[in-house]
Amino acid sequence: MSYLPCNYKTAELSNGKVHAITKKFPRHILSENTIVIRPYYMGICRADIKEIMGSRDVPTDRGPLFGHELVGSVIFSGTKTGFQEGELVTFNPNITPDRTTGFAEYVFVHGTEEQLDQTVIRVPEYDIIHHIWMPEPMACIVHATQKMLELNNLTDLKGKKVGIIGAGCSGIMFSMYARHLEAAVAIFNRGEMRRKFASDRHLFSAEEIHSLADTNAYQNAFDIVMVVSTMVSSEILKKAATLVSDGGTILIYGGTREGDKFLTTSVNIDVVRRQELIQLTEYDGKKIRICGAYGCYKQDYEESFRLHAEHPDQFPLEKIVSEEIDFEDFSNLVMSMATGEKDYPGKVVIRTNFE
Ligand SMILES: NC(=O)c1ccc[n+]([C@@H]2O[C@H](COP(=O)([O-])OP(=O)(O)OC[C@H]3O[C@@H](n4cnc5c(N)ncnc54)[C@H](OP(=O)(O)O)[C@@H]3O)[C@@H](O)[C@H]2O)c1
Repeated sequence: MSYLPCNYKTAELSNGKVHAITKKFPRHILSENTIVIRPYYMGICRADIKEIMGSRDVPTDRGPLFGHELVGSVIFSGTKTGFQEGELVTFNPNITPDRTTGFAEYVFVHGTEEQLDQTVIRVPEYDIIHHIWMPEPMACIVHATQKMLELNNLTDLKGKKVGIIGAGCSGIMFSMYARHLEAAVAIFNRGEMRRKFASDRHLFSAEEIHSLADTNAYQNAFDIVMVVSTMVSSEILKKAATLVSDGGTILIYGGTREGDKFLTTSVNIDVVRRQELIQLTEYDGKKIRICGAYGCYKQDYEESFRLHAEHPDQFPLEKIVSEEIDFEDFSNLVMSMATGEKDYPGKVVIRTNFE
């Protein structure tokens, strides 16, 4: 273990502020059940920003998300982990809270062999370090889409019209997957910046991308409406209810808080999302199914790698990255995102300069 350093740099979130700190490398906690990952890249997720702002309800079974998107190398693997040093891996934050933040030079994960098998996911794509994309958010999209199909007794989206509210990173990936499953897709975004980014990168055709202000022109037009905004506000739900057809489905994916309801109905959209339920309700003279999805599993990562490898033209996931920064600049930049001073149209990734 002489290759392990004495100190390492990590970010620390406390009282709504992110600081870069140097910590002593905790050799004493390395056990037969520990994996230490050295990230090459980390991604900033909207959920990280919400945790800084205190606007995310943290589930106790999984712990905080702050720093959960990463691609790195196993640099220490205990004898009961099932992993080898040097393996290229990514991370699933939905299994155990027993881990440190991914916004660090080293990430410490503890668990049984079964837990670690689900938490640390092998990356089969060695080129990812040079053409970076983040597997975790795509795995969540695969999971949510498959869950939505299952809850609606569908096997694919052939012939379906899918409307997506929010052209952020998740909305863009939902549209890629829905198109792959043969749906006709339209995406609605409030601000100009994300619409322009998606058009400039040829992620959508001009017919597919619209202003959120134009929803009235698409009343009852969609079999399925996916709500993928930072927070699922009443204003956005009203737009989803306008877009969906009678008998159609609304998927709740964006941020919800405890007790949030679907407009004037009794459907609790936070419970529907976190427990992955489907409920039939009536709103504005229409029958609507409201369903939700949350998190992802190992098989969703594996499906994401397969989709990316076999259909690179349909899943140009690298194009979603809009900014690469150095780890030294992370704490200032993420705080400027949290205060709203800065916003980026795509994924912001942080490189650690680990070769
Ligand atoms: N269910 C799950 O398993 C799961 C998994 C991962 C993420 N999520 C959640 O999904 C949400 C979106 O994530 P993301 O990565 O796509 O975030 P993102 O890239 O930051 O995009 C955020 C999107 O929300 C829109 N938005 C924000 N405030 C809005 C408002 N007041 N009115 C209308 N649109 C608004 C933005 O539009 P503008 O361009 O107009 O700002 C943008 O399209 C996050 O809340 C995240 O926590 C859920």
